[in-house]
Amino acid sequence: MDSRKRLEALRLLLAQHSHYYYDLDDPQISDGEYDRLFQELLQIEGAHPDWITPDSPSQRVGGAPLDKFNQVEHRLPMLSLENAFDEKDLYAFEERLLRFLLQDTTLSYMTEPKLDGLAVELVYEQGLLVQGSTRGDGKLGEDITAQLRTVSSIPLRLRKNAPTRLEVRGEVFMDRSGLDELNRQRAESGEALFANPRNAAAGSLRQLDPRVTAQRPLRFFVYGVSEPSGTGCHQQQTLLQFLADLGLPVNSLIAFCPDMASVVRRFSELSALRHDLAYEIDGMVVKVNDFSLQTRLGEKARAPRWAIACKFPAIQATTRILAVDFQVGRTGAVTPVAILEPVDVGGVMVSRATLHNGDEIRRKDLRIDDTVLIQRAGDVIPEIVKAVVEKRKGSEEAIVIPVHCPVCSHPLVKPEGEAVTRCVNPHCSAQRLRSLVHFCSKAGLDIDGLGKKSVEQLFGLHLIQDLPDIFQLQKDDLIHLEGWGEKSAEKVLLGINGAKTPPLSRFLAALGIRYIGEVTAGLLEETFHSLQNLLMATEEELLEVEGLGEQAAKSIVDYFSDSDVRKMFVKFQEAGVMPEAAKQREEKLLLSGEVLLFTGSLKKLSRTEAKKLVKDNGGQIASGVTKKLTCLVVGDKPGSKVKKAREKGKKILTEDQFLQLLEG
Ligand code: IVH
Repeated sequence: MDSRKRLEALRLLLAQHSHYYYDLDDPQISDGEYDRLFQELLQIEGAHPDWITPDSPSQRVGGAPLDKFNQVEHRLPMLSLENAFDEKDLYAFEERLLRFLLQDTTLSYMTEPKLDGLAVELVYEQGLLVQGSTRGDGKLGEDITAQLRTVSSIPLRLRKNAPTRLEVRGEVFMDRSGLDELNRQRAESGEALFANPRNAAAGSLRQLDPRVTAQRPLRFFVYGVSEPSGTGCHQQQTLLQFLADLGLPVNSLIAFCPDMASVVRRFSELSALRHDLAYEIDGMVVKVNDFSLQTRLGEKARAPRWAIACKFPAIQATTRILAVDFQVGRTGAVTPVAILEPVDVGGVMVSRATLHNGDEIRRKDLRIDDTVLIQRAGDVIPEIVKAVVEKRKGSEEAIVIPVHCPVCSHPLVKPEGEAVTRCVNPHCSAQRLRSLVHFCSKAGLDIDGLGKKSVEQLFGLHLIQDLPDIFQLQKDDLIHLEGWGEKSAEKVLLGINGAKTPPLSRFLAALGIRYIGEVTAGLLEETFHSLQNLLMATEEELLEVEGLGEQAAKSIVDYFSDSDVRKMFVKFQEAGVMPEAAKQREEKLLLSGEVLLFTGSLKKLSRTEAKKLVKDNGGQIASGVTKKLTCLVVGDKPGSKVKKAREKGKKILTEDQFLQLLEG
């Protein structure tokens, strides 16, 4: 196949698989295979830059940062919705509709979950995404095309038969788990947390650097178009089907309701369902189904007459602040946490709430023993809304931010202009423990079996005190510990071994240097290619890296010039830890060039673990006994694959031999 054709084929394949992965939650190929197709695409585009089109999946990674957001005028205004709160309001809505239409018939409706995110408009011309914008004030929004291109569930190209121009509207949002993880990372680097998915979505889209947006787990659902008449559809229900057929993601919880009684039933169904959803919804949108009726009903100043948002009641409760705990994070940030009298907030028992920092406590004037109103903000982190001042008895006590670290007793500092109080003792055991946890976690080197609990256990037993210690762990250190056995120890050691040659960017992000997250770490790897080069870099050289700010540059220089850090790097080296840039890595890993396949049931590893090991060690997974296959790993009760592989003269290993191979 010539490379032009192959490129077209790759784009289609990648778009298809990303649809399976993101919209249908049903991946059809492994992550490794996807990456490989993606690399192949990048390779062809690298050789033929003039073939890159805006709808290529390669354009999703985020282009160069913008100086500012340009304004976009919506051809037709993006309206907002009036609110209803209960059954009574819904029937009143229907009454208004009937009065306006001078009609006494039953109306039918479409009901859709009201997602808690950010409204956006996407413009497709000849099926290609050409512009994306925020709602703004309804008339003027901001051009966030580059940012929206990075959202995987937004198609860059519509399927066949798209109208010449189509302006669709929908909501960009973040899953609960995505928001939790993002907030966890932000808490660790001392950044302010996002209170709800809407703020998180807005904060992620309003990033001048689209590469930052690309790292955020954003999703999208479409719920309408600017002008239904251009689509040939006559009802909201058929419009949503039409949009789905074009490849746009439509929420699966939409429901047609033949009358208002059924709308009311659907509202209670959704209220019950909402807590089990992966994302936050804050109500249900009810729309008159027929477009001819919608047109007759028209709109008022800011909202259409033909739709209403029925909101779920806010999930709030009152309780009492029993005490305040001070937690020391990885960067030394001391965070006050209120210990609450346990209370049920919409089905979840809440007994702690973060107070963020001293400024926040002062602003809300919170005291120990106060009765407080709490809510689960965006259903994620419990938050204290305010103190119920009327309930004060006079015996409440002020919350005092300590002047010494609650863990190591070192004096705390609060830099001028910052809200955060910090322990600056690099030997503080709380910081060391948090750093270790981060280093091994998914955001760090992702070492299997070294989750928070295990790290805390090993730290408590003084088996690991600093990061390089992890690489000195021996089987004998582990097998006799509570909760450990031969199998789990072997597995962890294998993971640790695999983590000795991490990608440089991953290693840098794992170190937990202030202001150096995944994105910045990626920039550093791209620019400096090796740890040695980076260690030698001056602040001036760092400032030349596009996308790297002053704070980050200074933070890196400070970090690497610290004598303890230097000593730690000597220990890393002694332990054989050698982070590598992408290029070197591909050439040198144990399974580079190998294409493996597993068959039969494995004893020591799950399939997922086995595949991850292959990937981490530079190998690939075959889809069957193909020409590309270099080695078949055979477990118990294998099928016909063994015979096939033998006939083709392929290498065959048992599970143990495979594991030995990885031990190098
Ligand atoms: S329809 C003219 N449908 O709610 C119709 N909006 O206050 C306007 N929203 O800004 C929007 N889910 O961001 C519609 N299924 C849905 C929605 C939805 C969420 C948001 C949207 C809008 C706000 C209305």
